[in-house]
Amino acid sequence: MKNNYKNHVPGVYIVGAGPGDPDLLTIKAQKLIRQADVILFADSLIPLEILDCCRYDAEILRTASETLETILPIMIDRVNRGQIVVRLHSGDPSLYSAIYEQMQLLAEANIPFEVIPGISAYQAAAAKLKVELTVPGLVQTIILTRISGRTQVPATEELASLAAHRASLCLYLSAKHVDIAQAKLMEHYPPHTPVAVCFRIGWEDEKIEVLPLKGMAEYSHQQKLLRTTLYIISPALANQTLTEQKEQQELRSRLYHPDHTRLFRDIQE
Ligand SMILES: C[S@@+](CC[C@H](N)C(=O)[O-])C[C@H]1O[C@@H](n2cnc3c(N)ncnc32)[C@H](O)[C@@H]1O
Repeated sequence: MKNNYKNHVPGVYIVGAGPGDPDLLTIKAQKLIRQADVILFADSLIPLEILDCCRYDAEILRTASETLETILPIMIDRVNRGQIVVRLHSGDPSLYSAIYEQMQLLAEANIPFEVIPGISAYQAAAAKLKVELTVPGLVQTIILTRISGRTQVPATEELASLAAHRASLCLYLSAKHVDIAQAKLMEHYPPHTPVAVCFRIGWEDEKIEVLPLKGMAEYSHQQKLLRTTLYIISPALANQTLTEQKEQQELRSRLYHPDHTRLFRDIQE
C-alpha cells in the first residue's frame, strides 16, 4: 500500500482549522497537528478537541490574550531549534486572520512558512443549511465581507454599495454592529430577504436561524449575539414552495442538464 505519510520540515505552518468541528479539518492539517512540536492557537476561536490528535509532549500555547509581539519571538525561537510550529487559525487563513503581518515578519526573520487552507465559516454554514449560494437564474455571486469595526473597511467596499448587488452576502465580524448592518443592507435588499444567522457553527452550542432581513438585528439582540456569528443574506435561502421548486427545476444548473453537451459546457465554463 502506498504510504501517504509525509514528514514536514521545521518551519511555521499557518493552518486553517475550520469553523470548529474537528471532522472538518483537512488531512494535511491533521497530519501537521500530529507532528507538531509546538501548537499556537486562539482558544476563544478554536475548540480544544481540534488538538485531540496532537503529540502528548507537544508544547501548547494559547494566544487569545497574546499579541504578535509576544507570539512571534516564540515561533522564531522554536523554528531555529529545528521544530515544527503549527499556528492554528479558525476557518480559512485567507479571511480575517491577520496572517499578513505574521508572514511579513517571518519572511524578514528568514523563517520558512507555509499556509494550509481550511473550511471557512460560510462554507460550513451553507452545508448545515443545505443550500447552494449560487442558484442558476437567481444569484451567481457570493460576497464575503464585514462591517467597519476596529478595522475600517475601505469606502469603496461600503456595505450598502455591496448590498446593491443583491448577491449571496456573507457578513463576518459584524454582530456588534448589527443595527447599522441591517439598515445598510435594507437600502437594497427587500425586507423579506432571508438571512441565516449562524452562531458558533460546529461548536456544541451552535445555533442557526433563518429569518427575514428586517428581523436580523432584533433576533441578534434577543439572543445576545456579540461574537462568532456569521450572517448569510441570500435570495437562495428562500423556503421553496412546490411551485417555486418546479420553477427551480427549470432553472436547474445547465451544467448537469442531460441536454448539456460537452461543447456547451466548455463554452459556459
Ligand atoms: C476573526 S474572523 C475569522 C474567520 C475565519 N478565518 C473563517 O474563514 O471563517 C471571526 C469571524 O468569523 C466568523 N466565524 C468564524 N467561525 C465561526 C463559527 N464557527 N460560526 C459562526 N461564525 C464564525 C464570525 O463572523 C466571526 O466573527
